[in-house]
Amino acid sequence: MCGIVAIVLKEQTPVAPILKDCLQRLEYRGYDSVGMSTLYKGSIYTKKDKGKIAEVDAKLHFDELPGNIGIAHTRWATHGGATKVNAHPHQSSSNNISVVHNGIIENYLDLRQELEEEYDHTFISECDTEVIPHLIEINLQNGKNQLEKAVKKALKKIRGSYALAILYKNNPNQIILAKKESPLVIGLGTNAVYAASDIPAFLPLTNRVIILEDGEFAVLNYNNVKIYKTENHDTIISRNPQIIDWNSEMAKKGGMPHFMLKEIHEQPKAISNTLRINNFKYSPFIKLLNDAKNIFITAAGTSFHAGLASSYTFNKISKLDNNPIISSEFIDNVGGMIDEESVVLAISQSGETMDTLNAINYAKKKGAKILSITNVMGSSIIRMSDHEIITQAGPEIGVAATKTFLVQLICLSQLSLYLAEMRGLLNSAEIKFLKQNLMNMPRIIEKIIANQEDNIKNIAQHFANKSNFLYLGRGINSITAAEGALKLKEISYIHAESYPAGECKHGPIALIEKDFPVVFIAPPDDTQSLLISNIMEMKARNAKIITVSEENDNKIHRISDAKFIIPSKIPDIFTPIAYIVPLQIFAYFSAVFRGYDPDKPRNLAKTVTVL
Ligand code: G6P
Repeated sequence: MCGIVAIVLKEQTPVAPILKDCLQRLEYRGYDSVGMSTLYKGSIYTKKDKGKIAEVDAKLHFDELPGNIGIAHTRWATHGGATKVNAHPHQSSSNNISVVHNGIIENYLDLRQELEEEYDHTFISECDTEVIPHLIEINLQNGKNQLEKAVKKALKKIRGSYALAILYKNNPNQIILAKKESPLVIGLGTNAVYAASDIPAFLPLTNRVIILEDGEFAVLNYNNVKIYKTENHDTIISRNPQIIDWNSEMAKKGGMPHFMLKEIHEQPKAISNTLRINNFKYSPFIKLLNDAKNIFITAAGTSFHAGLASSYTFNKISKLDNNPIISSEFIDNVGGMIDEESVVLAISQSGETMDTLNAINYAKKKGAKILSITNVMGSSIIRMSDHEIITQAGPEIGVAATKTFLVQLICLSQLSLYLAEMRGLLNSAEIKFLKQNLMNMPRIIEKIIANQEDNIKNIAQHFANKSNFLYLGRGINSITAAEGALKLKEISYIHAESYPAGECKHGPIALIEKDFPVVFIAPPDDTQSLLISNIMEMKARNAKIITVSEENDNKIHRISDAKFIIPSKIPDIFTPIAYIVPLQIFAYFSAVFRGYDPDKPRNLAKTVTVL
């Protein structure tokens, strides 16, 4: 995710202490390395290192950086590990330009190669951002000695997402910003202009805010801000500042009452970023999975649910024999089967869960190859893996996993598709159709949140005093049911059980009495007619039926007492990605109506580092 700050002050006012202060309020966006550049008397000064802001500051003393204008960055590593050279800001070869960036440059490897081969530029980091100052520099050197034009030309070559703040040594009172898909807001102070990834950074200094939109470009001076369209630099956009009426606690959560709700709302963005992960990252996974004698998927908690869902897609579309085993049972269950020809796919948002570490440590000693999917670069699980994919959810603060679950599903769906493609199991039209549908997921999730949140809130209020819930689904959505029930019990402390709906008649149905709430995950797939029978069995016992189903699915709507609505035509194998979202929101509001803090549920920890 990463946080950036840029500040222009009137001459003589030292900027570094204010940059540091603002950056500290963005540390929730990433905290593995930190850096700052200031401009003073025609030179750029930079300090950076790995570690949290306070740790690096104690060593480097950011406040000593001179000048009244500067940029700063707190990092959540994506391309290149958390090291000093990979930390931002990044400079051009001549140190004329310094850049901080939040986002992902998809074509950085191609750009880097071009800059090395055609312009003889040398790169010192593994970070995608480093291509940006180099690209700007070559444009300046090509005679276009105007920063704005050089930046614009550089942006034309970049594919991906960015929020950028750029310092140029020949522009002593100016910072340039550019935005595409990553957030960037501007704060107007007195004799001061601030810019940051999020409003809380500068909220104690000003509440007059301009929100930059995609495809915009801004030139900041201490007493004015000019905004243009990146594509059309001739027309200045006039936008009045908004007055933000937030307290500082609200501000950290982007105006939302809890991190969990903020993180639910961040899901479309987290998915888009994860969909951007380069294909080549998947290649070693595909090869090893395809060639393995036996495949084990291991994880804990919500990550295990992602693993179980992927087991369905691997079976269905990739015809990949696989064995999902919860990490804490791994050694006892399949320990004896692991050998040099085995592949273990470990899934963990934190990359630190001891049960999962223990399982892969055991498998590694037996000679198995370890593949991992985590959300945290440099984590212990990654260090133990032969190959890893880092999902792009950014830091998750709420204890109950939400956005990290969705990005795991996305990543595993991609993997299943690539495998099916490589094995020739789907024709090119089918592959194209599924890939397109995966690309549509951010918009679908956005729609669910925008259209359903109020409805779900009302339903949660209605059921908030219940003590028991049953969650039922069939096929891949028996896993959605499991994750929905887990969310509810984790944060609202309501007892919630899940079952594959067909199994209910073998025991759980004994619990059902009048008004017992039963949640059914009911997409219009091949399992629906049997699921309807299961709903009728529950109705016959006077249960309250809550359904997650498609818009216009009257067969389901007619037999529901309450319903969460999903946009239509999601391919069956991707339904958990969308159908879990209302259940996350339902759990969130259930906790809130019962008076609990959803971000910090009792007895639970975000990362469990004990066996
Ligand atoms: C803890 C958390 C869960 C999480 C599980 C696995 O129990 O409370 O939300 O799903 O750990 O964590 P991981 O980081 O390995 O995904």
